[in-house]
Amino acid sequence: MACHLSSTCLVFSILLLLLLSFSSLPCQAQLSSNFYDDTCPNALSTIRSAIRKAVSRERRMAASLIRLHFHDCFVQGCDGSILLDDTPSMTGEKFARNNNQSVRGFQVIDDAKAQVESICPGIVSCADIVAVAARDASVAVGGPSWRVKLGRRDSTSASRSLANANLPSFTDSLESLISLFDRKGLSARDMVVLSGSHTIGQARCLTFRGRIYNNASDIDAGFASTRRRKCPANNGDGNLAPLDLVTPNSFDNNYFKNLIQKKGLLQSDQVLFRGGSTDRIVNDYSRSSSVFSSDFASAMVKMGDIDPLTGSQGEIRRLCNVLR
Ligand code: HEM
Repeated sequence: MACHLSSTCLVFSILLLLLLSFSSLPCQAQLSSNFYDDTCPNALSTIRSAIRKAVSRERRMAASLIRLHFHDCFVQGCDGSILLDDTPSMTGEKFARNNNQSVRGFQVIDDAKAQVESICPGIVSCADIVAVAARDASVAVGGPSWRVKLGRRDSTSASRSLANANLPSFTDSLESLISLFDRKGLSARDMVVLSGSHTIGQARCLTFRGRIYNNASDIDAGFASTRRRKCPANNGDGNLAPLDLVTPNSFDNNYFKNLIQKKGLLQSDQVLFRGGSTDRIVNDYSRSSSVFSSDFASAMVKMGDIDPLTGSQGEIRRLCNVLR
C-alpha cells in the first residue's frame, strides 16, 4: 500500500512509533497489594499476629519496626539489606553510624519470617515482611493503617558506606534533610509527616545532649532542664528519653505541637519548626490529627516504593540475616 501524507497514514505511523518506543522500555514489575494472594494467602495474617505479640511484649517495638523499614528503604531501596549480617567479604549496614546500637527489631523480623517460612517456604521476601511489620506496628499502637504494596525481593548485598551516606543524622540542617529525602523521591512535606513517627519511641542521650546543654534560643528552658536530669553532660550516653514528651505511647499529633513549643527532643526535630520553609507544614499537622494520619499513611506507601527489587532481581532469602 502506498503511504502518502493522508491522515490515516499519519495516525498509523504515530501508533507504530509509540509501539516501538514502549517495547524498548525495560520491563519493570510493579508492586501490588495482592501479590501473595495465590502463593501464600496466610502470609499477612501470620505476620500480623507475630507483630501484635511482639508489640504487646514491648510497646516500644512498634516504633523500632517503623524505623527499621525507613532505614531499610533509604539504603539501596526497600530490599531487606539492613537485615544482613556482616561477612568477611561484605561490610553491611547494621553497624553504620545511624544504625549501630540504635536500630532494633531484627529478632522480631526473624521470628515472623520463620513462621511465614513454615507455611510457605521460599515465597515471601524479608523486605516485604519489614514493610508489612511497619504497618502492623503502627496499627498495634493505634496509628494509621495503609495497604502495603508487595512483591519486593531481597538484596544480595548491603553497604555500610551507603548507609552512612543516606541515613539522616540528628545534627542535620533542614536543607540537608530536605535534600536527603528529595534524593529518594520524597518531598519536604513527606519528610515532615514521616518525622511524625517520632510521636512514639525513644532516643538515646547522646543524640540530644548537644541540644539540651547549649542554651540555644530554639529550646524551651524548662524542657531542657527536665531532660538534663537523666542525660548528664559527660556520661549516660545510652539513657533513653521519649521523642514525644507528652504522649510517648500513643500515635498522635502531639509531636508537632511540641515543636511549636520548642520542645522537640532532637535538633533534627526542631529544625522542622524554626522559622524555615517547613514551619507551615508543622502548623498544619499540629492542627489536624486526621490530616496527619492520612498523609502519614500515604507517605509510608510512597517510602515503601523506593527502588524495590522485583521480578527476577535479587532473591528470596530463607533467613533474613544471611544470603541464600
Ligand atoms: C528526618 C530525619 C530523621 C532523623 C535525623 C531521625 C533521627 C532519629 C534518631 C537520632 C532517633 C533516636 C535513635 C537512638 O537514639 O538510638 C530516632 C528514632 C526514631 N525514628 Fe527517626 N529520624 C528521622 C526521620 C524518621 C522517619 C522518616 C521515621 C519513620 C518513617 C523515623 C522513625 C523513628 C522512630 C519510630 C524512632 C524511635 C525508635 C525506637 O524507639 O526504637 N524517623 N530517629
